Amino acid sequence: MEAQLTALEAVTDDISTYLAGRLRHKLFDFPNDYPAESLSQGLVTHCERAIAVIAEAWTNPPIVVNWDIDDYIGAIGKQPTGTCILVETAIASKFPPAFPEHIDVVEGNPTRVNDRMGHILAWYLPGIMSEELQAQVRAAAKILHPLLQVPDKSNGTWRSNPRYYRNICFCKYPPGIVNLVPLWYQAGHGHDGSPLQASASLKEDNGAGEQFLRQVIEFQAIIGGIMSVIHPEQHYGGRGALLRCLRPQSSVTLDKDCLQRIMKVWGTAFTGLSVISERETPLHRDGQNADWMYDLLVNLSSHVNPDLRVELPGIGIRFWYGSGTVLSILGKAVRHGVSRTDTDRYCLAFFMRERVSERLGGVPHVVMMSEEVFKKWLSLDEPDRVKAMLRIQGSGFLLPLEC
Ligand SMILES: [Fe+2]
Repeated sequence: MEAQLTALEAVTDDISTYLAGRLRHKLFDFPNDYPAESLSQGLVTHCERAIAVIAEAWTNPPIVVNWDIDDYIGAIGKQPTGTCILVETAIASKFPPAFPEHIDVVEGNPTRVNDRMGHILAWYLPGIMSEELQAQVRAAAKILHPLLQVPDKSNGTWRSNPRYYRNICFCKYPPGIVNLVPLWYQAGHGHDGSPLQASASLKEDNGAGEQFLRQVIEFQAIIGGIMSVIHPEQHYGGRGALLRCLRPQSSVTLDKDCLQRIMKVWGTAFTGLSVISERETPLHRDGQNADWMYDLLVNLSSHVNPDLRVELPGIGIRFWYGSGTVLSILGKAVRHGVSRTDTDRYCLAFFMRERVSERLGGVPHVVMMSEEVFKKWLSLDEPDRVKAMLRIQGSGFLLPLEC
C-alpha cells in the first residue's frame, strides 16, 4: 500500500493549529503560537474569515434555553424523528423555547445556542465561507451532477420523499442527493458489526466522487479546522478513529486500498457528507446521530435571499440562512429544518452516525461541547494541545482536556 499522508494530516491539521493559535490570542489574550508560514496565502485568508466569524459568535451573547440538554435528551427518546407534532408539543411544554412561540425571532449575527449549564447546542456561523471558497465548491459540484438522484419513491420517511425536491424545470442545479461516505454499513447489514464499506459514489478509482473531494480539499480542511475548535472532542476522536482504520491490523473495512485512496482526499473527521441539491428540509431530528455529536450544515445559494431561514423551533429561533453559512448543531437533540424556497441552492451536510462511530471504536466517550471545553481547549498552548489530542484519539482518558 502506498504510504502517503491523508488529507486530514496533510492539510486539515495545519489549519486546526492555525485557528486554535489565532483564536486563543484573539479571544483570551494568550500568546500567538500558530505556525505563520505553513499555509498558502489563500488558506490564510480563508482561515482569517473563519476566525473572525467564530470570534464574533463567541463574543456575541448566546441564545440560552432554561433547561439542561441531558434532561432534554432523556425526554426525546432514543431514536427521535422530530416529525410527530403531538410528541413535539409535549416536549415543548416541558422544555420551553428561549423565546415564546408568538414572537418571531430571526437572528442574522454569528452566535451560539446554549443550555442553562453552558453546553453549546449549536453554533450559527453566517458568512464563514468566503465567496471565493463558495465559488470553488459550486464549480466542483458540477462534477457530481450525474450522481445526483431524486428518490423515486417514499419509504415512509421524509428523506426519501421526492416531494421535497424542487421541480427540475425551475432549477439551476439538478435536484437530488449524493452520499459521499468513506465508511458505512451496507444496506441490510446495519449495525451488525460487519465490515464497513465506502458508498458507491467513492468506490470507483478517481470517479466523480473522488474528483469532487479533491477539488474541494481546502473547503473540507476549513470545515475540519472549524470543528477542531468548536468541538475538539468530536473532531480529534473522529480523526483518530479514521486513521486507525488504515492500520494493517484493522478489520473495520475489508477494502483498505479503497479507504487509503479516499482518505487522501477526505479532509474532515466526519464519516459522511451528503451533497443535497434543490431540496427543502422539513422539521426533523437526526435519530441515528450520537447525542453529543454535531452535524455540520453548509448552505450554498446561487444568490442572496433574505427570506431563507433555517429553523430551530425547540429553541424558538430562526436563523437567516445566507450562502456560506455554517450551522453546526446537535442534530439528534435540536429539531431543525429549512424553509421552502425558490432560491437555487446546495446543502452540504457533514455527519457521523452513532453506529458507525461505535464500529470504529474510537469515539466511545461522551463529552458534550460546552463553554468550559471551548475555553479549556484554547487555553492550551500548541504542545499541550497535541498531548490532549493524542489522549482524545487514544480514547483512554477520563478528563481529556486536563493537562
Ligand atoms: Fe438534519
